[in-house]
Amino acid sequence: MTLLSIEGLGITFGGLKAVSDVSFGVKPGEIVSVIGPNGAGKTTLFNMISGVYLPGAGKVVLNGEDVTGMRPDLLARRGMSRTFQNLQIFQSMTVLENAIAGYHLRESGPILADLLNLPSTRRRAWEAEQGARALLARVGLERAAEREAGSLSYGALKRLEIARALALDPKVLLLDEPAAGCNAVETEEIDHLIADVAKSGVAILLVEHDMKMVMRISNHIVVLDHGEKIAEGDPATVSRNPAVIAAYLGTEAEHAHG
Ligand SMILES: Nc1ncnc2c1ncn2[C@@H]1O[C@H](COP(=O)(O)OP(=O)(O)O)[C@@H](O)[C@H]1O
Ligand SMILES: [Mg+2]
Repeated sequence: MTLLSIEGLGITFGGLKAVSDVSFGVKPGEIVSVIGPNGAGKTTLFNMISGVYLPGAGKVVLNGEDVTGMRPDLLARRGMSRTFQNLQIFQSMTVLENAIAGYHLRESGPILADLLNLPSTRRRAWEAEQGARALLARVGLERAAEREAGSLSYGALKRLEIARALALDPKVLLLDEPAAGCNAVETEEIDHLIADVAKSGVAILLVEHDMKMVMRISNHIVVLDHGEKIAEGDPATVSRNPAVIAAYLGTEAEHAHG
């Protein structure tokens, strides 16, 4: 069963086709990666799927429901959660407080009850803290709970961001460059974490520039170039595809020429 279905998505920015007619699906427990050179349209595609941009064409179907252009908070309530390419961590809060913030994203409880400090509010706060501590254990940060987030290594911050996204108990998790800026050891820790989350049945959609990481952990890969899907398949098939090799060599040649 396909949990997330992307059907002919496209968007144009001032005449530039940033994404054009892209389709694919993600099943529970599956890791699907979208790769492509810088500027290929990966983040734009993500922003359309997660309700940040309204697509110019096509549909996003979540669990059989058309959710095209739905606001991120409403998508979250339907089971879609995401992280951002640029960290969205509160650096001066503790690690635990950051994880707890993930729980508050899913609450729509009455503000008045919070102001009056009612027992229901205190119970919810306690539950959020217990849940947040369990999530920190899951991402290997339980012993860093009381530390200031800004003092963590980059790899640990990336894992904290995944923990916060998991607080929404997603069915679909969208990760935008989860290993960007991480060293080899940190990248491997994030690999394991993503594989572990997939194993629990979450459908994972990954956008990642690091082709090696993608080859290690993906079940299925979608390759974008200049906004278009140029190839898809399992890692072995995609890595042998001449169009994919040309797209990556093309960007290297562009870099080489400045
Ligand atoms: N908000 C925007 N307005 C105008 N152009 C944009 C916007 N966002 C992205 N683009 C353009 O769309 C293309 C795809 O960008 P992006 O999705 O960020 O690529 P990637 O994430 O694959 O590196 C690029 O040419 C980029 O300049
Ligand atoms: Mg990007």
